[in-house]
Amino acid sequence: MKPVEIKPNIYWVGAIDWGVRDFHGYVTPNGTTYNNYLIADDQITLVDCVKDDFAKYTIESIQNIVDPGKIENVVINHIEPDHAGSLAPIMELAPKATIYITAKGKAGLDRYMDTSGWRFRVVKTGDTLHTGNKTLTFLNTPMLHWPDSMMTYIEEDGLLISQDAFGQHYATAGRFDDEFLTCCSVAELEDAVLDYYANILMPFGSLIKGKIAEIEKLGLKIDMIAPDHGVIWRSDPGKVLNMYLDMANGKAREGVVIIYDTMWKSTALMAQPLMQGIRDENMEVKVIKLRATPMSIAVKEFWKYRGCLLGTPTLNNIMYPSVADFLTHLRGLRPKNRIVGAFGSYGWGGGAVKEAYGEFDRMGLEKVEPGVEIKYRPSLEDEQSCYAFGKAFAKEVRKYHRKF
Ligand code: FEO
Repeated sequence: MKPVEIKPNIYWVGAIDWGVRDFHGYVTPNGTTYNNYLIADDQITLVDCVKDDFAKYTIESIQNIVDPGKIENVVINHIEPDHAGSLAPIMELAPKATIYITAKGKAGLDRYMDTSGWRFRVVKTGDTLHTGNKTLTFLNTPMLHWPDSMMTYIEEDGLLISQDAFGQHYATAGRFDDEFLTCCSVAELEDAVLDYYANILMPFGSLIKGKIAEIEKLGLKIDMIAPDHGVIWRSDPGKVLNMYLDMANGKAREGVVIIYDTMWKSTALMAQPLMQGIRDENMEVKVIKLRATPMSIAVKEFWKYRGCLLGTPTLNNIMYPSVADFLTHLRGLRPKNRIVGAFGSYGWGGGAVKEAYGEFDRMGLEKVEPGVEIKYRPSLEDEQSCYAFGKAFAKEVRKYHRKF
């Protein structure tokens, strides 16, 4: 791929993955990019690598600028294979290069690949690398989103290479946010940021707030944010910083997503009057059927709205498997600042709704009880109960939303 100069003598040498639709288990309907950057200074320095299948592309891109054998330093901000997977072929070409990495990164890398014979310099926050005309400062960001994670700041250019943070899974021909907006919309870009945050960074909201505060305290002038996925924030890096701060502070839309699954359509039939009750309170509402929707999209929609009503039939006295699966996944993401309720149908014995509330308790979410559970098919009276619960739920969502 053709390198793109993003700052004087700093080039994007990454790869565009137009076709990936399953990124370690979650859907990427728009593909993704693996971004890495070459600093063509007195000391040639590569910041990050790409996924192993794309090694050829980054090597060809580097060759357009310099002989890869001349690389003296390789910075590994993050060891996950989509960023460090092509390190071995790079090191074959530049065997004398020094790898800059955190202590946890080094320990992890040793488990992923044979690092014997490679030179390392273990770095921590504040350590620097002078490449000639540029000064790279490292900033540890543990658990954003792996223990090894760090960012690299280049003082002379106000450039923050932020690794996964501030990224988006979106394959685009243009490398910058302003180029993206000539072919897509602000809403699509914001949705891609939200999707990424919800599925990868949701558990780390307080760490994100702390790290942004630390960056502010260090007084780093940030002119550009270059993540390892998606577009580079050139026109307005403050936009994505503010979006992250908002999300870390619990910002959500004042609305409800109804996420349900159904066996013989009884729980689906309940969703309709619930939705109507919410609408009649003049509140935004969206309805998602789980088996018809990839998990990561359901997670994104959950995260987008202040309230969620979860619908589950009872099967063998417990929750329907797809709903249980969703809640287990959600618990791992440690959602905060959301209000929830549950509904569902049963045949001869209920229990799923109670179980769902048990899961909400485990997650520490605000609840509106008792939900609605009905036998077999919803009767007219049952539909009225659903409608009433929808209205009551919307009122509670509105009240709760005012706290933020
Ligand atoms: Fe894009 Fe944590 O890897």
